[in-house]
This record gives sequence, C-alpha cells and structure tokens, in this order.
Amino acid sequence: MAFVNVRNLTYAYPLTKQPALQDINLQIEEGEFVALIGANGAGKSTLCYALAGFVPHFFKGELQGEVEADGKLSSQSTLSEWTLNVGLTFQNPFNQISGAKYTVFEEIAFGLENIGVPREEIKVRVEEALALTDIRELARRSPYSLSGGQQQRVALTSILVMRPKLLVLDEPTSQMDPVGAKEVFSAVRKLAQEGMTVVMAEHKTEWIARFADRVVALKEGRILMQGAPREVLTSDLLFENGFGVSRYTSAAREARRRGLWTKKSLPVSLDEAAEGFGAIR
Ligand SMILES: Nc1ncnc2c1ncn2[C@@H]1O[C@H](COP(=O)(O)OP(=O)(O)O)[C@@H](O)[C@H]1O
Ligand SMILES: [Mg+2]
Repeated sequence: MAFVNVRNLTYAYPLTKQPALQDINLQIEEGEFVALIGANGAGKSTLCYALAGFVPHFFKGELQGEVEADGKLSSQSTLSEWTLNVGLTFQNPFNQISGAKYTVFEEIAFGLENIGVPREEIKVRVEEALALTDIRELARRSPYSLSGGQQQRVALTSILVMRPKLLVLDEPTSQMDPVGAKEVFSAVRKLAQEGMTVVMAEHKTEWIARFADRVVALKEGRILMQGAPREVLTSDLLFENGFGVSRYTSAAREARRRGLWTKKSLPVSLDEAAEGFGAIR
C-alpha cells in the first residue's frame, strides 16, 4: 500500500461555503517526490496543511474523507504525534521562526530539544542538517537578521533535522534566487532517493520537470491532472486551463501553432528548447 493515502478529502475553512479542497484522492509511494502546482487559491497550501495534520487539528472547519500516512490516520492522531513523522515548512518562512531563540543554530536545535533528544546528539544532527542545506555560515546569526531566502533555508533545515518520513514543503524557494532554488530541488531529490517522501508546492516548472517524480495540478480545490512531470507540464489540458508553464514550453507551443516546431514533444528545459529551435533553422 502507498505511504500516503488521501481519500475523498473535502475541506472547508471555518465560516466559508466554498470548500478549499474538493474530493481529493491521492496516493504517494514511499520515497516519491511529488510537486503540487496551481494558481493562487487553487488549494496547494491547504493540501499541504491536510498532509501535515494542521487541517483539521489547527485549522478547524468542515472535513470529510481522510488522510493516511505510514499506516495511520491523521484524524486519529494528535498534531504532536503526527508531526513526529511529518514535517511542514510554511509558505511564509517567517511563520516558522519560534521567536524563542537567538541564533540559527539554536533555532534548528529547538525541535529536537522539545522531544528530549540528548544534547550531544542534537549538536551532531544540527551540524549535519546545516551542511545538507549549505547554511553552516548562518549558524551564529539571529534568525531575524536573515533575508527571505535565508529564512526559507533555515525553515527547511529546522524540519529536516527532525528526519520526517514525509516532508511537506509549501513554496520553499519562493524567496530564493534561481541558483538557491535549484540547490533546494537538488537536495530534496537526494533525500527522496534516500527514502524520504516529499510533497512540494512549487511554481518553478523547469526544476519540477528535472527533479520531481510526479506533478499534481490543482485547480479550484480539485485535482485537474496528475502524472509524469514532462507529460503534465507540456499537456494541452494544463495550457487550456491557464496554468503557468515554463517559457520554453510556451515558446515552443507558439512555434508549433505556426507550424515551425517539428519535434513530437514540447520542451521543458533550456537545453531541449535550444535543440528544438536549432532544428528550425
Ligand atoms: N485561513 C483561511 N480561512 C479561510 N479561507 C482560506 C484560508 N486559507 C485559505 N483559504 C481559502 O482556501 C482556498 C485555497 O487557498 P490556498 O490553499 O491558500 O491556495 P494556494 O496555496 O494554492 O494559493 C482559497 O480560496 C483561499 O481563499
Ligand atoms: Mg499557498
């Protein structure tokens, strides 16, 4: 059985009529890296919250269906039980900072302290996590002195240090430069290879195409389409539904409309676009 099973999940926030998620069914295998895409308001963050147990344990409202991970139901666990296995980084990294610690090192150690990990082990694990996300040089800084992109790295590190089985990342690279974003994708790919299951809400389709195993496209709270990244990201269905895809795909689609693009498939990367446009000449 799949590691994550979302069954007939429908959820509305308190005092809202229109559900933020409608009849979501989703299976995710252990070690799979799934990217969630969709316009603002599509339900990406809400699905992240549901996977991470914040819906329904923190955000109340009306929930039908169920979320299962690692053989347990979120509705039958407390939030603190659930978050032992499942880590979430929030869309706004500022929300992740505890406010209780003076340095990035202590901030990252905070979660381990809370579950009573011995001091020596904490030190080793924090060093390890800092190296993994390449922010050793931030260790002595105040969490509040960081740029948005650096805060996002700290948020990711403070979750990774907990070694969750399921990692849920809500737009973790939104405030990073392109190089930083690619590094995060690449690090996440590696973690998935080592067995961590990852769900990442993201917009950067070029990196999604390169690093993710599967894309789930959300529209108005429903799954519009899912499948292999290349297939989904070059599909007519996605295009017709107004999803933003990479400029390489868009440019080639336009060239195809004009009868210029001769390749069978549309490109998802610069290399493929260059090759295809090179063939036109
Ligand atoms: N705390 C909240 N209370 C009420 N409605 C919310 C709340 N958060 C999000 N929503 C609504 O739920 C829908 C899905 O939002 P969200 O999950 O944030 O989408 P996305 O992350 O894809 O932008 C939107 O219609 C949004 O307005
Ligand atoms: Mg969001």
